[in-house]
Amino acid sequence: MTKITAAITAVGKYVPEYVLTNKELESYVDTNDEWITSRTGIKERRILKGEGLGTSYMAIKSAEDLMQKKNINPEEIDLVIVGTATPDLPVASTAAYVASEIGAVNAFAYDLQAACSSFLYGMSTAASYIESGRYKKVLLIGADKMSSIIDYKDRATCIIFGDGAGAALFEPNTESLGLQDEYLRSDGVGRDFLRIEAGGSLMPPTAETVKNGQHFVYQEGKTVFKYAVSNMADVSEKMLTRNNLTEEDIQWLVPHQANKRIIEATARRVGVGSEKVMMNIHRYGNTTSATLPLLLADYENQLKKGDNLIFAAFGGGFTWGAIYLKWAYNS
Ligand code: UT7
Repeated sequence: MTKITAAITAVGKYVPEYVLTNKELESYVDTNDEWITSRTGIKERRILKGEGLGTSYMAIKSAEDLMQKKNINPEEIDLVIVGTATPDLPVASTAAYVASEIGAVNAFAYDLQAACSSFLYGMSTAASYIESGRYKKVLLIGADKMSSIIDYKDRATCIIFGDGAGAALFEPNTESLGLQDEYLRSDGVGRDFLRIEAGGSLMPPTAETVKNGQHFVYQEGKTVFKYAVSNMADVSEKMLTRNNLTEEDIQWLVPHQANKRIIEATARRVGVGSEKVMMNIHRYGNTTSATLPLLLADYENQLKKGDNLIFAAFGGGFTWGAIYLKWAYNS
């Protein structure tokens, strides 16, 4: 019997129109373009403006972009997963709303939360449903409205994050393309270093928590940086050794976009030059669950059938990992 693998067969994206530049941030906090550019690689990010627009707005747009480009009938989609750290509502699945709005009337849907690793973990989930033969079309979306949980008076976080969404469709493949291997990790030690303190079951919201700014993202940047560099590099290297790949076999490194220096350190360990590293952090900053699918959408035209891609991510929790995937189509 031919083995069924799970391939990405279409991608889509959406970023909001509003561009938040380093210059504008200089008017909110004590920072400057030179510091932000040299320490992070970020020049600008997109921000979703407008009353009543949440993460679902961007998720829907990215799914519509995907469906329109590849002429996908939403009624054929079996499952919609939305990877997000910023759901529309604390209770009520964002994915369920997105599925209904895009016309995926025969799908079931749920959210997946693993901070910046949500899309990476979601790739594993989507692929497993396909490989098992249970479903034929799984739509995985990574979307985050980070501006809804960022304190624009905190220079340690406000310079980093942006809003956006990307989508990828997973379908069965009989040519051994698609997801080949994965190594996914987590460690609860990270909870102290990157978190939103209040608003969950540990500390429900009160006037006091709002006053104290405990509903915003808190990050101990230096510590997270250290863990991110060593762990992203370790798991990426593991994907190569475990699959007997050399750097020449790799066409693309697809790294989470948190900091240009973390990306470069991972690339060095994998041994690939910058021409093989997908990067858009200068334009979008860190969009959390959306970084990986945004990269795929931005680089889609350069990808060729059979290309070997190494995905790597690191995020709050801590959560991290790497995935080895063979690209399945020429665009
Ligand atoms: O995606 C989820 C995972 N997240 C990450 O992977 C993020 C990991 N962390 C980082 O990317 C970096 O740690 C940051 C970009 C957040 C910070 O960069 P850093 O090089 O680690 O800076 P630092 O916190 O060590 O601060 C260095 C100096 C300090 O000044 P002193 O004490 O040396 O005088 C800070 O006060 O830079 C100062 N500083 C700033 N200066 C201008 C910190 N933030 C800023 C700022 N503008 N925005």
